[in-house]
Amino acid sequence: MAMQIFPSILSADFARLADEAARVPNADWLHVDVMDYHFVPNLTLGLPVVESLLKSTGTPLDCHLMIAEPDRWAPAYAEAGVGSVTIHAEAARAPVRTLREIRKQGARSGFALSPATPIEPYEDLLGEIDMLLLMTVEPGFGGQSFLDLVLPKIRRTRELIDRHGGEIWLQIDGGVSEETIERCAEAGADTFVAGSAVYGAADPAAAIDKLRALAQGGVQDDV
Ligand code: DX5
Ligand code: ZN
Repeated sequence: MAMQIFPSILSADFARLADEAARVPNADWLHVDVMDYHFVPNLTLGLPVVESLLKSTGTPLDCHLMIAEPDRWAPAYAEAGVGSVTIHAEAARAPVRTLREIRKQGARSGFALSPATPIEPYEDLLGEIDMLLLMTVEPGFGGQSFLDLVLPKIRRTRELIDRHGGEIWLQIDGGVSEETIERCAEAGADTFVAGSAVYGAADPAAAIDKLRALAQGGVQDDV
């Protein structure tokens, strides 16, 4: 399994986003946290900034929508040209329709679960999903501590994905660091968002290489 590292620009300097994207040329994708003061108690950026960022970097964008009414807003992000759009289970009212709309607009469809949301009710949706995001902190802020209580859900989700036989990426977001990434990989994750662990490092590109190597090692140890 190839391990992918997605730096989160939430921990970057918002006044210099193009430069911050250029500091991580070895990123697989860039993770963009869209927050609206409603679904989460924080506010970040929206479609106009995403459109500017699309023109400023060749790295594909992974938009994580932590917003109310994702059914209303998600398709526009896909239409703008981002590579992946993730909606939250707790906010979507018509997830099947919205996931299909995201794909129809040419993006990968992502589906996110907050720490307390179980995966089992969504098993029948796996065919609609290109990436499952399991939050390992409560969504809203960078720099929070990794929640180990999500590890059993990562294992159960990996089993479901393998049984489904699809090519669904299993993404982890929140508190991913050199201390925690190996246990996530060992539990079955293959795609890792890291904000403070990358942009808080003196050399963000080197931090990505280190995280990727640790994730790869976490899997090999298990073989
Ligand atoms: C939090 C965001 C994360 C955030 C992670 O709600 O979804 O993407 O940037 O930040 P770290 O890696 O610092 O926990
Ligand atoms: Zn995120």
